[in-house]
Amino acid sequence: MNQEIYENIKLWFGSYTESISSESEEIQLNLDLKKNHSFNTAEIIEDLAKTIDLSESDILIAKTAALLHDIGRFEQLINFETFSDTEQANHINLGINTIESNSVLDGINEESKEIILECIRQHQITELPKSIDENKLVFVQLLRDADRIDILNIVSKYYSDCKPGDNKRLEMELADKPDISKKVFKRIIDEKSADYKDVLTLNDLKLQQMSWIYDFKLKQSFRIVSKKTYLKRIFDTLPKTDSVIDMYRQMKIYLENNL
Ligand SMILES: [Fe+2]
Repeated sequence: MNQEIYENIKLWFGSYTESISSESEEIQLNLDLKKNHSFNTAEIIEDLAKTIDLSESDILIAKTAALLHDIGRFEQLINFETFSDTEQANHINLGINTIESNSVLDGINEESKEIILECIRQHQITELPKSIDENKLVFVQLLRDADRIDILNIVSKYYSDCKPGDNKRLEMELADKPDISKKVFKRIIDEKSADYKDVLTLNDLKLQQMSWIYDFKLKQSFRIVSKKTYLKRIFDTLPKTDSVIDMYRQMKIYLENNL
């Protein structure tokens, strides 16, 4: 892969995302948010990739996967007005269809193309299947780390600066109730990332996002999250119950032990 191919994909991404707009202020805000998130994820993945000695060409493959990983979110938002994945409105399937129907990866060799598509398929799954090809795994892990670092940046700001309900889609339309799922608590105390299907309230969502640290693979990812104090910033918006304090303490220690 070379810089020129990457620049062309970036141009396509720019014109595709420009072609999708909404009269609803909230939908437009989320379209802009996803566009910025895609560019930021590409920047973060480059930073992470440079710490593990990837070739220039491999860094461009990783950046392409990062730029395109949420391309399905634009159609999902405009046609289904949600960030919630359902059978009809799954952003991964929508994204792969968009990439294929627009021939976005046509200039890239088969092997690199497969790496990029595998990254998109696996970027959000709770537990990675053991069957992933060794040579694809490093790219998948890079994307998962980079994507989650940028989401932690977005949501830590949002939870601190906005009122619950300001952006319902970013809150995955969850109720702002004090309850915390026992399954989320158990996974976090066991040092495992919480499963999105156990998330029932906005508090569960915040804790599930914090628990991504258990999935991080790169030292640099732990360093960024620690330096930017994302866990603390989200914790500050949670009710200070014993179970929340226990979970925060467990995650904080895990983060510090991995720096
Ligand atoms: Fe993402």
